[in-house]
Amino acid sequence: MTTTMIVLAHPDPRSFNGSWANATRSACEKLGDTVLHSDLVAMGFDPVERADHYHHQQADTCFDVLKAQEQASDLRRIPVEVSAEIEKLRRADRIVFHFPIWWFAPPAILKGWFDRVFAHGELHTVEHRFDTGHFRGKKALFCVTTGSEEAESAFNGKEGDIQMLLWPAAYTLRYLGFSVAIPEIVHGVHGYHKGAKKDALAVRLANALDAQYGIMKEFDSRPLIQFNADSDFDASNRLRTDRPSYSSFIRKEP
Ligand SMILES: Cc1cc2nc3c(=O)[nH]c(=O)nc-3n(C[C@H](O)[C@H](O)[C@H](O)COP(=O)(O)O)c2cc1C
Repeated sequence: MTTTMIVLAHPDPRSFNGSWANATRSACEKLGDTVLHSDLVAMGFDPVERADHYHHQQADTCFDVLKAQEQASDLRRIPVEVSAEIEKLRRADRIVFHFPIWWFAPPAILKGWFDRVFAHGELHTVEHRFDTGHFRGKKALFCVTTGSEEAESAFNGKEGDIQMLLWPAAYTLRYLGFSVAIPEIVHGVHGYHKGAKKDALAVRLANALDAQYGIMKEFDSRPLIQFNADSDFDASNRLRTDRPSYSSFIRKEP
């Protein structure tokens, strides 16, 4: 049986993002999956990594985050709210993230969840990252909304290429070993339309919710974002000139 973890980063479950996450849950349940849910705001997840979370830390020494996480892993003293999320990640075969774009990036609570939950020592080490990441064989999907229209979010759009805005979050998952599916994006989501435009948006959003069953049904065959393999880099970890570039984040010489 498949286990799907849903991570929602939005302050209101009645929002479109909240409804979309619910549609994912219903689809998974219909498909017979076990569903694990993390509604980060509703859970009151603290996204700020700080010394207070680590009681084994000496108060008079500088808080070294990577070392604190590694020691917590060694001592089995990972903060309880973090270990609960790690447990879900380990149980899940696939992770579906639901979030809006806020200031050209995922909301801060999701970034903070990455900062804390993807704990050094526990979920990644120098030996276990990228091609050797612990989560090899698991697949993630971003279900994302933008306020901007599709054209504005295109490669040449004024609001910036949405695929590039999502790349750092996708690469974070790739660092841990996940495969990352091509994101599902609903554009132009906002409450400022009136009249016919408002009605048209309501229809489009309802259709997006209806489409979620099909998206989850086809999840395993959904195409992946391409990343370079470890072997595409030379001894100093620069992209080898004979290897392809899949993103402007890691590119060929100009
Ligand atoms: C703090 C904040 C920043 C935002 N920044 C962006 C942005 O950079 N690009 C964009 O397309 N939309 C932006 N928006 C619009 C949101 O993406 C939009 O409100 C959301 O996708 C709507 O989904 P919801 O109805 O589920 O909240 C922003 C909204 C907020 C509240």
